[in-house]
Amino acid sequence: MAPERTYLMVKPDGVQRSLMGEIVSRLERKGLKPVAMKFMAIGRDLAETHYGEHKGKPFYDGLIGYITSGPVLAMVWEGENAVAVCRQMMGKTNPLDAAPGTMRGDLAVDMGRNIIHGSDSPESAAREIGLFFSPEELVDYQRAVDPWVYE
Ligand code: RTP
Ligand code: MG
Repeated sequence: MAPERTYLMVKPDGVQRSLMGEIVSRLERKGLKPVAMKFMAIGRDLAETHYGEHKGKPFYDGLIGYITSGPVLAMVWEGENAVAVCRQMMGKTNPLDAAPGTMRGDLAVDMGRNIIHGSDSPESAAREIGLFFSPEELVDYQRAVDPWVYE
């Protein structure tokens, strides 16, 4: 198993709708390993850095307002191909296109309220993990169950 890490975040609508437990539960049941979690508010500067790639797009101001509108649950999860696995589990950006069984497909209806963020590549994951967590906050440990999750 070649472990990979991804940055996931329950967005403010997910927190307000009491979906943190549901989302964490899905990730645990899948077999992914939690590495870090932090319940926090995102300030404007951090929001603009995190979503810098979208600056200038029509939805940018709404997106910054959305992500700073209330607390989020910032998380790092680990596993083989964790970035791709989590993007699959999240579903397409627009919940209308997200398949049933995915988080967005099951739990959201609006593109601007799509409950979860997930890194879109290993490079984005490294950047986003560094933005939200210091190295000491990333917990290294062995999981006894891993041989039952990975061949
Ligand atoms: P995220 O970064 O939040 O995980 O979502 P994503 O990769 O699936 O989608 P991305 O293209 O990175 O867009 C970031 C967030 O901006 C909002 N959005 N609105 N109205 C629009 O056309 C539009 N496009 C994107 C969504 O909240 C999306 O998650
Ligand atoms: Mg994105």
